[in-house]
Amino acid sequence: MEKRVIIAIDGPAGAGKSTVARDVARRLGFLYIDTGAMYRAVALWALRTGIAMDDPHRLEQLAQQAEIEFTAGRVLLNGEDVTESIREPQVSEAASKVAAYGGVRRAMREEQRRIASNHSSVMEGRDIGTVVFPEAQIKVFLDASPAERARRRAAELGLENSRAVAQEMEHRDRRDRTRVEAPLTQAPDAEYVDSSRMTQEEVTEAILRLVRKRTSH
Ligand code: DC
Repeated sequence: MEKRVIIAIDGPAGAGKSTVARDVARRLGFLYIDTGAMYRAVALWALRTGIAMDDPHRLEQLAQQAEIEFTAGRVLLNGEDVTESIREPQVSEAASKVAAYGGVRRAMREEQRRIASNHSSVMEGRDIGTVVFPEAQIKVFLDASPAERARRRAAELGLENSRAVAQEMEHRDRRDRTRVEAPLTQAPDAEYVDSSRMTQEEVTEAILRLVRKRTSH
């Protein structure tokens, strides 16, 4: 029987996790799971229903009730395609807030483990190698300089000036790194990759080399 392989890719916003994780999953025929999209979906639902960001109890209920699916590259929340709406700046900010609550994280963590229970997967987020799959065979901490991360995110949003983006990202990263519950941190057995001066293809190749090395015996 073939063994299930988990590739955990963690790191701050704008480090290039999504593009690279999707590419690695495609090359290996693995599932690709964007866990940030799950926190974003819960945040979007909270914003729409007017649930306060300082109400952990109701946010936890929402996280438990949310039906989040990944189908054909789209993200569905309770059957609705929310792929674009979860990328709005106010949803990024709200996602980082809801993600600070232990109850919300517990619900997401269980769902993430369930999705990957029968499939080899590439899962990207903030706590995959540290908390969700501490037993993952391959762990990568993908980073880039703050200026480069802001430049990439601004380009994605079609903006010429990245100063406001840099401020928003710095603020969100600080919250993600300093929270009590599963903060963003590098797992001791994760490979640190600084993508600041690498192309996306180079990062993908570096991860595939690591996969070959760690799964060859
Ligand atoms: O990766 P992203 O920018 O789409 O994630 C949105 C927010 O969700 C991020 O600011 C922190 C949170 N998040 C988290 O706490 N844990 C994860 N595994 C993934 C995302």
